[in-house]
Amino acid sequence: MEDRGQPIPPETDLGDISIAVIGDVHLHWNQFDVDYFNASDYDLVLFVGDIASYLHRSALPIARAMSNLRVPALMIPGNHDAIHVGQLIAEALERPNVSARISRGQSRRRQQIDRALGQVELAGYSRHVLQIGGLRFSIVAARPHSMGGDRVAFRRHLRERFDVDSIADSTRRLIELVEQCDAEPIIFLAHNGPTGLGNRREDPWGCDFRADVGDFGDPDLEAAIAHARSSGRRVLAVVAGHMHHDLKGGGQRTWQARDDQGTLYLNAAKVPRIYQDAGSTWHHHVELRVSRLSAECFERRVAR
Ligand SMILES: [Fe+2]
Repeated sequence: MEDRGQPIPPETDLGDISIAVIGDVHLHWNQFDVDYFNASDYDLVLFVGDIASYLHRSALPIARAMSNLRVPALMIPGNHDAIHVGQLIAEALERPNVSARISRGQSRRRQQIDRALGQVELAGYSRHVLQIGGLRFSIVAARPHSMGGDRVAFRRHLRERFDVDSIADSTRRLIELVEQCDAEPIIFLAHNGPTGLGNRREDPWGCDFRADVGDFGDPDLEAAIAHARSSGRRVLAVVAGHMHHDLKGGGQRTWQARDDQGTLYLNAAKVPRIYQDAGSTWHHHVELRVSRLSAECFERRVAR
């Protein structure tokens, strides 16, 4: 996965590659998924995080089940991963000092998940160069454990592990990763999506739990995408989750969008991703098809 491969001349004719994007798992992943993706034609699986529920230990059997994948895979941790419920409450109440006091052990919990994931790479503030068929591209994994909005959640852990203490630090860190990319196109992988896609509750990362918030995207991610563009790089897609499709108070979120530069934005967070409908049990994911110049996506559900 870290092989930089050979540069691809721009005129080379490239076939599509196919990526499975798994929205917030929240414990909904089992052997059926493993068997399905191992038998599939997918080139890569991307997990947008939140494999746990409210108990850290609940993430570990899920991570072990994910480790049985034989397709290359990446996972960026969400705000439910490697934390305990006290931290989650402190962050939700916007009490960062309380959260910092009770965050000891987050690195150890993260290591436990990392070990349980096996060959599934734990991503976050990381760049992954992939060469699949004729297509060479970079995945830039954004801020791990994002909780959305205009502040850095779980700051103590981010400071100790990544030297990130603010949105400005995080923006710098992401721009450094973008600067490492050469001419290859970029796919951003994040837990929460970027700001800039709307402030209505039904927008891809609009806030549906507080009327006064509006756009609940990550500003550091929007800045990194803008930097990639302004420095002449192509951003094919931005893949994230966190803001669930079912809206609080009713209705459904717009889960994909495309901007005037042609970048595809994909929110894969259908929760629960395994559900009953018309007498069958369905497993949800999104298929992302990528060529050197563009990306498109399709919602998929598979009956067990
Ligand atoms: Fe989340």
